[in-house]
Amino acid sequence: MNPILDLLSAHRSIRTYTDESVADEHVRAAVEAGQRASTSSAVQAYALIRVRDAATRERLVALTGNQEKVARSGAFFVVCGDTRRHRLACAREGAPYDARLEAFLVAVIDASLFAQNVCLAFESMGYGICYVGGLRNDLDVLDRLLEIPEGVYPLYGLCVGRPAENPLPRPRLPLDAVLFEERYPDDRTMQRHLDAHEAALGDYYAKRGRAGRTWTASVAKALSVPRREALAAYYAKQGADLG
Ligand SMILES: Cc1cc2nc3c(=O)[nH]c(=O)nc-3n(C[C@H](O)[C@H](O)[C@H](O)COP(=O)(O)O)c2cc1C
Repeated sequence: MNPILDLLSAHRSIRTYTDESVADEHVRAAVEAGQRASTSSAVQAYALIRVRDAATRERLVALTGNQEKVARSGAFFVVCGDTRRHRLACAREGAPYDARLEAFLVAVIDASLFAQNVCLAFESMGYGICYVGGLRNDLDVLDRLLEIPEGVYPLYGLCVGRPAENPLPRPRLPLDAVLFEERYPDDRTMQRHLDAHEAALGDYYAKRGRAGRTWTASVAKALSVPRREALAAYYAKQGADLG
């Protein structure tokens, strides 16, 4: 329909990259595009840390559950929600910093809108990207490696590089399963959407040699046991009020 919609619909996470590094000018262009994202009351509660050091990136491979792409991508970044500069601004104004859960949510939301704009900018320049939530496996170690100060909340990693693979696009839920009119649908309707999604995914899994897999099984596997239970303590230590 237009080049931007084409770019959006062409997205697939890329996990294998050529050896090409990501030029600083491309990083700067992508981050500038990221900064144009909407931001709650213009607070711009985010920061992006590029990690170049090979030894640090190897440490992060282990930390993320052996995700080799963290060391092998053309560039690796850590996306952070950032309230540090708000704390400094309050101090400059002689005011206390007394923001609560709302401020933490704003930081997560702002950082994610920023990050997704950054990703789209990279994709528009022919790069592939992959977010890395595995970074939250051990935030205490990450914190020490990157000297993260109070008020900064590392959220996830981001691999960027020239694609060395061409994966099948991963199907999404049917449009009607996420776009509702006036009110939220009942569970029977929701179940029908799940059936439609499973039917569409069957083909995708079969093409990838994983016939028999289901979306509900993978969701249940991921969400039926607590994961990363140290997160609340870590973010609270960083100054987030999660109460
Ligand atoms: C916040 C976030 C964290 C993610 N973490 C990982 C990760 O640790 N490792 C990985 O290989 N992919 C990760 N992904 C990529 C998702 O698995 C991927 O976006 C999803 O399966 C849909 O596939 P697609 O991006 O190819 O369309 C993450 C995505 C998001 C948004």
